Amino acid sequence: MVGSAPSPETSNAPMASFSTADHLTEALEAYANPVNARVGEITRAAIKHLYAFAEEVGLTREEWFAGIGFLTAVGQMCDEQRQEFILMSDTLGFSMLIEMINQDAAEGTTDPTVFGPFHIADAAIKEMGESIVIDDQGGSPLTLSGTVRNLDGEPIEGAMLDVWQNAANGLYDVQDPDQTPMNMRGRFITAADGKFSYQTVRPIAYSVPFDGPVGAMLTANGRHAWRPAHTHMVVSADGYKPITTHLFDQESEYLDSDAVFGVRESLIVDMSQGVVNYDFVLEPN
Ligand code: BEZ
Ligand code: FE
Repeated sequence: MVGSAPSPETSNAPMASFSTADHLTEALEAYANPVNARVGEITRAAIKHLYAFAEEVGLTREEWFAGIGFLTAVGQMCDEQRQEFILMSDTLGFSMLIEMINQDAAEGTTDPTVFGPFHIADAAIKEMGESIVIDDQGGSPLTLSGTVRNLDGEPIEGAMLDVWQNAANGLYDVQDPDQTPMNMRGRFITAADGKFSYQTVRPIAYSVPFDGPVGAMLTANGRHAWRPAHTHMVVSADGYKPITTHLFDQESEYLDSDAVFGVRESLIVDMSQGVVNYDFVLEPN
């Protein structure tokens, strides 16, 4: 029999190669019918960006495996007290990005910043002017006062300031067995004049937890783990959006290199005279 050219169907010619773009399309199609539409949207976006990330850096098998090892170590570091995944998010600036995306606040509202891992719900409600210091670890006395206002500058009655900070030894009560639980915490509720005032000590710069895989990641990237001196507050009131924020000491080190990228110019205050007056501005719901 005289041979004939193979028909296209029986050809052994290599198929057009299956590219990484084809692979992405296949994966996205496989995730195109989610039970929950929002879960599907987030999963497909995560796939897209993960593929782009791996292609951009040309991720090797060894690097992929090291990444799996890192995430495994982050998970293994987590327990009731320690949330290494949130610390990873914080130190990558991702937590602050989430705040920025969600802030959506009217001009004039107090700037928010990161919440951090050291808040405890239901701190004692204190009288105006009272101190949040239970254990005196030394430190320089500081009075924090001001007014909680709305966007028209009017005082807000019944606003709550839920405040917490580290002691003069640099540690939060939850990190330090030598401190009485709930040291350096309190809640204050404003009267009709919207004013608040409480006694504390000047906060000091401290390092975020550094003894785990996130500490190793910071070291490998030539970063330090320090946060500039700050005191935390959540300011809330019925009918208004709550604000999670800090006040930073303008004389502190690390204002330009906060390990968690939380500093905002508007939140830096002069604590050197032992008195700070600062008004918080809330936006209606
Ligand atoms: C904090 O300010 O308490 C904090 C924020 C993020 C990570 C660790 C600590
Ligand atoms: Fe803090």
